[in-house]
Amino acid sequence: MKHAVCPGSFDPTTNGHVDIIGRAARMADAVTVAVLVNAGKDALFDMDERLEILREVVGDAGFGNVTIASFSGLLVDFCREVDADVIVKGIRAVSDFDYELKMSQLNRSLSGIDTVFVPTSTEYSFLSSSLVKQVARLGGDVSALVPPGVTRRLATRFADPPADAALG
Ligand code: PNS
Repeated sequence: MKHAVCPGSFDPTTNGHVDIIGRAARMADAVTVAVLVNAGKDALFDMDERLEILREVVGDAGFGNVTIASFSGLLVDFCREVDADVIVKGIRAVSDFDYELKMSQLNRSLSGIDTVFVPTSTEYSFLSSSLVKQVARLGGDVSALVPPGVTRRLATRFADPPADAALG
């Protein structure tokens, strides 16, 4: 039984994440998507929203062997807690590889757990959560880049303030 962990901030989930989770789900017997509690200062969605989005996405896609969890602290400690065999990370470009390689080597030296790199599908190779947030914040259409639930939430988050709010 191979158990893979797909870690990340998922602030918010993009179609690139969904692609990697789905492909991990086909390679492993069980997958845990592990959402980092502290997504940094510029986090847009709180933990409950990020988990809710991922549960919707996994349900809609019918990934029956994928569960969603949050973690804080070291990824390798979380992997030990859930008895994971492998970490799965998506690699979009050579620029990702430099940092991801160091993280994978560090994680292996800390715990012995290996990381498998999955090349992101070409249609998502430019895609990141931070670019999606930037485009949505400036009124751009991100519906081709993220799951429908994310488009909906971004629209609400960046909706024009109601007219009466501007008055007072
Ligand atoms: O989606 P992200 O922000 O690229 O995900 C990064 C993540 C969550 C995988 C990474 O920051 C992480 O593993 N953080 C947990 C802290 C940790 O274990 N650090 C040591 C390994 S570098």
